[in-house]
Amino acid sequence: MEFASGKELMEYTNALIHSRQNVSPRRLAEPGPSDQQCQDILGTAAAAPDHGQLVPWRFVIVPKHRRELLAEVFGLALLDRDPNATPEQVESAREKAYRAPFLMLAIARLAGTDTQTEIGNSERLVSFGCAIQNILLSAHGAGFGTGLTSGQAMASPRLRALFSLNRHEQAVCCINIGTVTKRKPARLRPDMASFVTSL
Ligand SMILES: Cc1cc2nc3c(=O)[nH]c(=O)nc-3n(C[C@H](O)[C@H](O)[C@H](O)COP(=O)(O)O)c2cc1C
Repeated sequence: MEFASGKELMEYTNALIHSRQNVSPRRLAEPGPSDQQCQDILGTAAAAPDHGQLVPWRFVIVPKHRRELLAEVFGLALLDRDPNATPEQVESAREKAYRAPFLMLAIARLAGTDTQTEIGNSERLVSFGCAIQNILLSAHGAGFGTGLTSGQAMASPRLRALFSLNRHEQAVCCINIGTVTKRKPARLRPDMASFVTSL
């Protein structure tokens, strides 16, 4: 892709980054990304900084015809935590599996997953987060809304079994993508001075 200048590329990139905002899956409707768009969007994860090329992430797409399996896990995980949960609460937990047109689980591959290396979990989690951010920005650039959802079900043995997680893997969140039906006002971002100092 040709840009007239580095300045143009920077302005474009900054505009993309600053205009992204979380969109709740409740406000994500069809259409979701096409197969080709999914390829393009998910492929950007590979451009994340990755010390040692460990690929410390794994994503599992949950297609529409498999959402019932995730709904079942969400509902039963709630009952495991709270046997007194009401049918309405269980239904609300289950319903989260169906909201976004595109949904996939983001899994961090922590130390121990691969052969012995000194690259620890802090670095792996930075790479993992960058891979997710690449996906969010790419989807946003393609015109879609994106939202991250987590919750206690991420730690459920039922979820771990459904996604065949090994003991070094951790389910962190779901990445939801779709067409935005309603956008909230952008949240106020922290001032740079609040997180940057000079030594
Ligand atoms: C790993 C991760 C999981 C998240 N899970 C949830 C969630 O379950 N529910 C929620 O309302 N926000 C969740 N969030 C926060 C939103 O994704 C979002 O980042 C936050 O509301 C700030 O909005 P912004 O991204 O527009 O700045 C999560 C964020 C991260 C990084």
